[in-house]
Amino acid sequence: MTFQLSEDHQAIRDAAKEFAVNEIAPTAVERDKTAEFPTEIVQKMGELGFMGMMVAPEWGGAGLDTVCYTLALEEIAKVDASCAVIMSVNNSLVCWVIETFGTPEQKERFLRPLAMGGKLGAYCLSEPGVGSDATQQATTATLQPDGSYLINGAKNWITNGTKADHYIVFAQSDPAKKHHGITCFLVEKGMPGFEIGLKEDKLGIRSSDTCSLGFTDVRVGPDRIVGAEGQGFKIAMETLNGGRIGIAAQALGIASGAMEKAIRYSFERHAFGQPINHLQTIQFKLADMQVKTEAARMLIFRAARKKDAGENYIKEAAMAKLYASRIAMEVATEAIQVHGGYGYVREYLVERALRDAKITEIYEGTSEIQHIVIARQLMKEYELSN
Ligand code: CAA
Repeated sequence: MTFQLSEDHQAIRDAAKEFAVNEIAPTAVERDKTAEFPTEIVQKMGELGFMGMMVAPEWGGAGLDTVCYTLALEEIAKVDASCAVIMSVNNSLVCWVIETFGTPEQKERFLRPLAMGGKLGAYCLSEPGVGSDATQQATTATLQPDGSYLINGAKNWITNGTKADHYIVFAQSDPAKKHHGITCFLVEKGMPGFEIGLKEDKLGIRSSDTCSLGFTDVRVGPDRIVGAEGQGFKIAMETLNGGRIGIAAQALGIASGAMEKAIRYSFERHAFGQPINHLQTIQFKLADMQVKTEAARMLIFRAARKKDAGENYIKEAAMAKLYASRIAMEVATEAIQVHGGYGYVREYLVERALRDAKITEIYEGTSEIQHIVIARQLMKEYELSN
């Protein structure tokens, strides 16, 4: 497998970098303080095609591959991980679901505006009592005599939750069938009985939007089912496989952004009569950061290439997310250490990297879940080859 970037890949990366530096970075520090949602930036990301990067042009998307998507996410996460997660949820967890499993009518009505950035999407799987153990959906969808469903329950930790227009919602429609009874629905903001909670006050990715949602007899027609009835859990899992590549790219962006700041500071700061990057102890830290970020990048490219080639990439996506989120924490911690006391205050920006990195070890499957996914795939591969 080659890791050579094509000219198109490089052009997308450069365009994302220019946009991130010129349009996102100037307000990132302030938004981290105020936790204000980047409404105008999200609009511009839509105009530039970043909100539906992999969606086919016939549905309003940019028609790019997963490698382009990870390159853009890395550049955006380098300056602001909040913008990166808003973008990745809309792309990986919402547009992908509708494009892959939706009907032509659903694509026209929901996917097109989501891909073009006119509307925003959210993915609703987690619940107050259901996180990693996602088969145990307590939200119910009860079939009515007229063929519609009534959705009841609650969802938690929903990225883009208060700002979204369209919500991918998983609910148990046939408890006897356990996870084979889970169905995926499209719910719209404003439907009677659909209640949106308050934005959470978070440690990191502060200007992204996270909230809980309530469903009381929310009536949806059968035309709002995505895929087939009972196919919801499979859809949720396959969606997260792709989503995990996006979160890995976000984690990589956080790490490479922190590393760049550490390198810059190591030239500026003098100790013992020389720039600190003349000291072997600092050189070793920078070298380790470089090895880790480059290794994460290779795992991400590998997963993205396998996805683009239509191969099974479940293990590769989980490996990329597990490793990239781990090294994002390590690199951010070491970047603070290089800065010494200055790294611990907001002005030098590296403390935000550490706060933003932590969530990448939690959402779209915790690191513990990634271990499970990798180990199970390994065992399957062994059984198949023996
Ligand atoms: N890809 C495709 N299918 C998968 C899959 C995967 N990665 N993982 C499991 N499945 C399928 C299995 O093949 C199985 O199918 P069948 O029953 O038809 O054979 C079915 O799903 C159930 O799988 P298991 O028997 O392995 O079930 P389990 O309960 O032992 O394990 C789990 C399931 C892997 C732990 C799963 O629940 C999981 O991934 N949990 C993590 C949930 C998660 O990532 N949540 C993130 C929330 S979204 C979010 O964070 C978004 C955001 O805001 C940014």
